[in-house]
Amino acid sequence: MWETLRSVLRFRKLELDPTARRLARCANIDDLRAAARRRMPRGCFDYIDGAAEDETTQERNCRVFETLQFRPRVLADVGEVDTRTTLLGRELPLPLVLAPVGFTRVAHSQGELAVARAAERMGIPYSLSTLSTRSIEEVARASRGAKWFQVYVWRDRGLVKELVERAAAAGYEALLLTVDTAVLGRRERDVRNGFTLPPALSLGTLVDGALHPGWTLDFLRAEPIVFSNVVGRGQAATGADPVSLAEYIGEQFDPTLHWRDVEWLQSIWEGPIVLKGIQRVEDAVRAAEVGVQAIALSNHGGRQLDGAPSALELVGPVTDRVGDRLEVLCDGGVRRGSDLVKAIALGARACMAGRAYAYALGAGGERGVDLALGWLRDGMRRSMALAGVRNIAECRPDLVEWRRD
Ligand code: GLV
Repeated sequence: MWETLRSVLRFRKLELDPTARRLARCANIDDLRAAARRRMPRGCFDYIDGAAEDETTQERNCRVFETLQFRPRVLADVGEVDTRTTLLGRELPLPLVLAPVGFTRVAHSQGELAVARAAERMGIPYSLSTLSTRSIEEVARASRGAKWFQVYVWRDRGLVKELVERAAAAGYEALLLTVDTAVLGRRERDVRNGFTLPPALSLGTLVDGALHPGWTLDFLRAEPIVFSNVVGRGQAATGADPVSLAEYIGEQFDPTLHWRDVEWLQSIWEGPIVLKGIQRVEDAVRAAEVGVQAIALSNHGGRQLDGAPSALELVGPVTDRVGDRLEVLCDGGVRRGSDLVKAIALGARACMAGRAYAYALGAGGERGVDLALGWLRDGMRRSMALAGVRNIAECRPDLVEWRRD
């Protein structure tokens, strides 16, 4: 009996590092989300996790991947699976770009720098948000990997021009113009939580902070959160005083955003421009006509117009019309490598993912992001092998079909 018992007894090494312990219990991005939710104060978690109004678009973003199923090929010799592709003229090890996420440091003090470093290690582009908590230059110093800069059109066009020039000087390769945020969607969790940026102290947030001591200590030990790209820009609010995002964007961003602004941007930036937030075929055609290099089909993670279509459903119709004139990316609900394969099969050139890494960062900082990116890469390779395709060119529309049930 003792011998049998001894042969089956295996004790896991006692892990003393709390981050490693937390990450060791996660097997997928949903687990990282749950771990982030436990570690972060509610207001901060909800800012990342939440979406507009009834959040139906966000839910659909995730569910739509389930309604697309594979038509796997067997006996296809998948000894070598190659996930490499090219995007905007650059070779990537997998068709993934990290999407811009505002105020990344509310997830973890390592924030944008950690995510940019993890993207560099994976060899994929990182998009820095205009509303970042680390500046264009700080991120460029932290990472020599491919970087894109996300642009919002401020009322103050001089500020936009300055940001674009700084991005060019710091070696960012593409501009990502967000075209779905003329005004801010109503994120009702933020309204209920009274969420501000930077997070403000109140009785509620003090209690929330005390219940999440790991996050709170990490937050308090780090430098204060500011809108790093616009610090010193007078009333272009710097983040020194807590504001709600709706207030801030209402004051600072220009709701007259129009196709003529795209042309203006083309006149001040020499590199590729990606229009992020295209949600109908006609606008994709117009984007091709104005001559941008790429579009990202996106509903902003469901954070803008609730009731907008999921990007995945648009990929086929859009690539049919303009796939030969520009590169088509899509985002929203990407949680697994198989999601990447499905989007590519429908015709997307690459996917973008934001929450996937934001949860990872919230759960375990830079190590969490490395873990999540590794899962996406490995999951993609495994799904391709199981679906019987060896490379991106073999991921064609006949590899998938929409379920009818
Ligand atoms: C900012 O862009 C946000 O979606 O919160």
